[in-house]
Amino acid sequence: MAELGKAASSAEGSTADSVDVTPNATEVERVDSATEAEAVAALDAPVDRGEPILQVRNLVKHFPMTQGILFKKKIGAVKAVDGVSFDLHQGETLGIVGESGCGKSTVAKLLMSLETATSGEVFYKGQDITRLSGRALKAVRRNIQMVFQDPYTSLNPRMTVGDIIGEPFDIHPEVAPKGDRRRKVQELLDVVGLNPEYINRYPHQFSGGQRQRIGIARGLALNPEIIICDEPVSALDVSVQAQVINLMEKLQDEFNLSYVFIAHDLSIVRHISDRVGVMYLGQMAEIGTDTQIYDHPTHPYTQALLSAVPVPDPESREGRERIILTGDVPSPANPPSGCRFRTRCWKAQEKCATEVPLLAVPERFAGQDTPAAHESACHFAEEKDVVHAA
Ligand SMILES: Nc1ncnc2c1ncn2[C@@H]1O[C@H](COP(=O)(O)OP(=O)(O)O)[C@@H](O)[C@H]1O
Ligand code: SF4
Ligand SMILES: [Mg+2]
Repeated sequence: MAELGKAASSAEGSTADSVDVTPNATEVERVDSATEAEAVAALDAPVDRGEPILQVRNLVKHFPMTQGILFKKKIGAVKAVDGVSFDLHQGETLGIVGESGCGKSTVAKLLMSLETATSGEVFYKGQDITRLSGRALKAVRRNIQMVFQDPYTSLNPRMTVGDIIGEPFDIHPEVAPKGDRRRKVQELLDVVGLNPEYINRYPHQFSGGQRQRIGIARGLALNPEIIICDEPVSALDVSVQAQVINLMEKLQDEFNLSYVFIAHDLSIVRHISDRVGVMYLGQMAEIGTDTQIYDHPTHPYTQALLSAVPVPDPESREGRERIILTGDVPSPANPPSGCRFRTRCWKAQEKCATEVPLLAVPERFAGQDTPAAHESACHFAEEKDVVHAA
C-alpha cells in the first residue's frame, strides 16, 4: 500500500474521484485567482501536520424554491447551510453531529464540490476551492474523497468489487496503469481487511460491514488526504459499527488521513473524533474538543442531545435529568429570527428572538483556563451537568 501512496502522490493532479459527477460548475461564474498550473502545484504541496488542511468560512447553501412549470418563479429558499465555519487540521477527525435535515450532507457535498456554494469559502491548502475549475478542481477532487452512508445502495450491484474499487483508476490512470490495477485493487482489499481473492465477487455476496469496507477501499484508491464520511456506520449493526470505526482509525494513522465524520448520533462520534461540531438548522451551535463537548457542553441544544443518550447503568440513571425538547424542528425555508433554536429552547428569553448569537467563546469564559471556554452560539451559554453514556 505504501507503493500505492507513492504512485498517487507523484501523479499529476488530474480528474475526479470515486463520485466523479461533474459538479454544478456552470451554476455560478467561477473565478480562477491563480493560473491553473500554479493552482495545481500548490495543491500537490505537503501541509505541515497540525496545520489546518481545510478552512471553511461562512459557508452558505440555499436551494431555491420555485413555483410554475414554464416560467419558474422563485418563491423562497431552503437555507440548508447558513453560515458554517470550521477548521480541519491535518491528521485529525472532526465529528459533525445534528438531527436529520440540519444540513450535514449538504456541508459534505459542498466540501466535495458536488454542490456549488451560494456564498462562503472552503480553503484547501490556502486556495478557495469553491472558485476553482478545470484541472485545479480535479486535483482537489482527487485529494478529497467521500465514504457514503448506505453500503447497500452506494455500490453498483452489477459491478464486481474489483471494478467498483478500481473505477477511480479509469478517471486517474496515472495512479494505476491498466496492467497494475488488479494488484492495486487486491492491495486495497487487503488494507481494509477483506480477502484479496474476493475481487470477482458482487456486492450482494457481502455483509453490510464488508460492503462499507469496500466503500472505504474505493475512497482510499486515489490516496486522498481528506475523507468526508457521511454517516458511514449509521446503517450498520452496533457491533459492526465498532469494527468499521476501528478500521477507519487504523487507516487514518497509516495514511495520515484527515476525516470529517458526520453522524446524527453523538455517541458514535465520540470515539473517533478529536473535535466535534454540533449543527442545528443549517448552523453550527457549538464546537470544541471531545472533552469540551461531551463533558462541558454549554449550548442548550448539545445538552439536550446528550441527555437523550441512553444510560445503561441503573445507578447512574437514578436522579438523572432528561431534557425533553418540545416542538418540531422548524423549516429551514423559514427559520426563527434571532437564535434558531429558540422555539425549542427551555432557556429562551426576549433577546434570543432579536439577536443572532454568534459562534464564539462566550464572554463569561473568555481567557479562562476552563473546558467551558469553547465556541458556543448561545447568549446564555453555561455549563450543565448532564449524565450520559456517550
Ligand atoms: N437538492 C436539494 N434541493 C432542495 N432542498 C434540499 C436539497 N438537498 C437538501 N435539501 C434540504 O436541505 C436541508 C438539509 O438537508 P441535508 O443536508 O440532507 O441534511 P442532513 O444530512 O443533516 O439530514 C433539508 O431540509 C433538505 O430537505
Ligand atoms: S441563545 Fe437563547 S434560545 Fe438560543 S440556545 Fe441560547 S438561551 Fe436558547
Ligand atoms: Mg444526511
